[in-house]
Amino acid sequence: MPLTQRRFTVFLALASISFLVAISSTNAQAQGGLGSPLPNLAPSEAKAFTAGQSQFFRLWGVQEGLGPLTSDGGCSRCHKQPVIGGGAARLLTFYGLTNPDGSFDQFYLGGPFLQPLSNAPFIKSGLCTLQGEQVPVGATVEKRLTAPVFGFGLVDAIADADILNQAAFELNNYQADGIHGVANMVLDYHQVLRPGRFGRKAQQPTLLQQVAAAFGHDLGITNPLVKTEDCPQGDCNIDPNCTDNTPVPNNTNTGSGGKGIFNISHFARFLAPAAPQQTNLPGQTIFMSIGCNECHLPSYQTPAQVFYDTDLSGTQFGPSPSLSNQLVNLYSDLLLHDMGKKNAGTFPANTLITNQATQQQWRTTPLWGIFYRTAFWHNGSIKDIPSAILQHSPDGTGEAAAVLGKYQALSPSDQAALVAFVQSL
Ligand code: HEC
Ligand code: HEC
Repeated sequence: MPLTQRRFTVFLALASISFLVAISSTNAQAQGGLGSPLPNLAPSEAKAFTAGQSQFFRLWGVQEGLGPLTSDGGCSRCHKQPVIGGGAARLLTFYGLTNPDGSFDQFYLGGPFLQPLSNAPFIKSGLCTLQGEQVPVGATVEKRLTAPVFGFGLVDAIADADILNQAAFELNNYQADGIHGVANMVLDYHQVLRPGRFGRKAQQPTLLQQVAAAFGHDLGITNPLVKTEDCPQGDCNIDPNCTDNTPVPNNTNTGSGGKGIFNISHFARFLAPAAPQQTNLPGQTIFMSIGCNECHLPSYQTPAQVFYDTDLSGTQFGPSPSLSNQLVNLYSDLLLHDMGKKNAGTFPANTLITNQATQQQWRTTPLWGIFYRTAFWHNGSIKDIPSAILQHSPDGTGEAAAVLGKYQALSPSDQAALVAFVQSL
């Protein structure tokens, strides 16, 4: 069902707020420092942010469905720098098997998600002997750096049409530079094909799906969107001694309606993006003139009235005063670009961690909040911004080659000014 035709059961009664939202778009950004919520939350949104925050911060127990295998006990174990909701220098490991005929098995011996920890130490009976997973010998491995989630409700709110129009715009206008981003088209949980926007391959179309995938595969807590446990090292006969089936009152994670995943998603939804450290730096003009902006689109604007689901049946809340008509200064077109042979990942298209993205395609990384990052690039292999710039299609293959050439032709002082601008975002 198209978004606009879904059932809206909850409407915001505060006409004055809708009116304010309608007359001018605002720059949504953290006013109380990183980790604070968006300004102008509706009372129900403020409550949802606080409730979701405690779910995002906490560590889960075996009784609540954690495991039998897990990467870690809570979202905040990875998303924590410089404050919870951020990223980390920590990598997630994915693996599969490339067969001799070139075909790829993403489920090879428990792939694609490596879950190195088992909940055995926490099972009271002591009968569970399950070991954490190891990368099998000969497997094809891909590592990805934890990404921050500040401002991701705004990213979720950007209209699909705006992302698709941007892809068409690039095709028509950036031919000289060879730039033509494409959307990673993915089914959402209402079975609508939509442009993906979350994950380093833009492999998830909605914040809720990204959160449910993290809940299901990173933590090992099944939920209505990830209904079955990942098979430990490929063995789907999971020892019943390794799950604690004690019923927990009010355990909403696994139950119907998906309350648990909605609760956590609301924390990310209302988390404000970082504010730039400085504005009007001279490097901004260079960023625009050499074509960094052709992929790192400075901003999208959210629709005048944003509605979002509050349950899986499509009940919605809106128009949201915090998400409607906002400038989202993310510095990304949210599209996939071929970054050249040197940046090829190891997973081919059509897997759980890529969707339609090919090995060489990556989503333009949003640059907002880059000032606090300590590791860069999809695999965290780059340690500073100048090196990240030089990693754009460095072998002349891929879409960033022409822009990289223009960067290299700049005087050292112009290069420094450009880096200072990027560093301020
Ligand atoms: C073990 C570390 C780890 C844990 C635990 C973890 N994440 Fe992540 N998260 C990552 C990594 C790595 C990525 C990038 C994955 C990718 O691009 O495919 C990511 C990506 C994300 C993104 C998308 C970011 C973007 O740039 O599009 C969101 C949203 C997110 N995680 C939310 C969560 C939530 C909610 C939880 C808890 C339920 C969680 N994560 C638990 C490591 C982790
Ligand atoms: C063809 C599209 C394209 C162009 C042009 C482009 N970028 Fe990028 N940029 C990307 C993609 C895609 C990534 C993610 C690559 C990856 O992680 O594998 C990226 C990543 C980055 C990163 C690393 C961010 C992080 O946190 O890991 C920085 C910094 C950056 N770009 C700055 C620039 C600057 C400055 C310019 C202009 C000189 C530029 N980019 C031009 C597409 C582009």
